[in-house]
Amino acid sequence: MKVLVLGASGQLGTDILRFRVECSDSVEVISLSRKELDVSDASAIGAVLSDYPFDVLINCTGYHKVDEAEEHATEAFAINAHAPRHMAAVCRARSATFVHISTDYVFDGRSHKPYLETDAPSPINVYGASKLLGESLILREYAEGSLIARVASLFGIAGSSGKGGNFVETILRLAREKGEVRVVHDIRMSPTSTADAAKALLALIHKRAAPGIYHVVNSGDATWFEFAQEIIQQAGIAAKAVPITSQEFSSPAARPAYSVLDNQKVAKIVGLIPDWREALNRYLAEKGHIRQCASSASKI
Ligand SMILES: NC(=O)c1ccc[n+]([C@@H]2O[C@H](COP(=O)([O-])OP(=O)(O)OC[C@H]3O[C@@H](n4cnc5c(N)ncnc54)[C@H](OP(=O)(O)O)[C@@H]3O)[C@@H](O)[C@H]2O)c1
Repeated sequence: MKVLVLGASGQLGTDILRFRVECSDSVEVISLSRKELDVSDASAIGAVLSDYPFDVLINCTGYHKVDEAEEHATEAFAINAHAPRHMAAVCRARSATFVHISTDYVFDGRSHKPYLETDAPSPINVYGASKLLGESLILREYAEGSLIARVASLFGIAGSSGKGGNFVETILRLAREKGEVRVVHDIRMSPTSTADAAKALLALIHKRAAPGIYHVVNSGDATWFEFAQEIIQQAGIAAKAVPITSQEFSSPAARPAYSVLDNQKVAKIVGLIPDWREALNRYLAEKGHIRQCASSASKI
């Protein structure tokens, strides 16, 4: 099986390359950098991809600077919506499987129970709207061959190339420097390790999961405040997390107050996805922030 990964230098793409053997030992993975294919140039997508043989295309690219997207809607829509449509068309033409990464921000956050894949999306910011249009265009272009994986609140060893670092590293730095971190306590989501998301994605591909939408997140949920508290506690830093409201931490883009995703559909195919606290523990050990994992690394 030949797999082509776009966005492989990002935190999710890096872990897909790291854990590719979990897909199958006969899998051959190639990746293209932004230099080789800038996906914001729609006309380049078909031309460049035609040079490469692949059975599966995984698109980990994305414009996910949520606040900046409010002012850069054209760029966000080009990368998050129109580019995936062109990728889906290329995959359809050669009967390849298309795996596209979307987001929990397609939801408005009014729910009080974890969102299912069948729940109606209704984004409240430009980033979410661009990702939702991407999903819709893919489904219109090639529903029969596309897997759309919604992930959320990612942390991975490579750090986000789009945002520079990730939430875990930011909290660790601030906690060490200031001894106190102020974090919003009224937004609840699904913290997700890119290692576990990558393993689940590769397992879905390996098991030839049916086309459709999948919520690929760690089990459990947390507010950003609870997430920060857990980071500080597991890292053993003598610092305090202080809860604040999202109104106190004003930002250009609105964010859903509740975007927890239900991962049962994926778990039924690939097995239980570990709790985010366990995933955080593995992450901290791997990055050298703590000496060793509290529990042995679990495999999906
Ligand atoms: N991070 C999150 O918390 C989060 C939450 C929900 C959903 N997602 C989605 O998950 C996916 C992966 O996120 P991530 O955190 O792994 O992102 P990331 O670390 O920022 O990586 C993004 C990747 O996309 C590439 N890329 C960006 N614009 C490109 C362009 N115009 N042409 C070609 N390549 C381009 C980047 O290349 P360079 O290294 O050259 O910049 C990088 O390899 C994205 O689709 C994102 O929207 C992320």
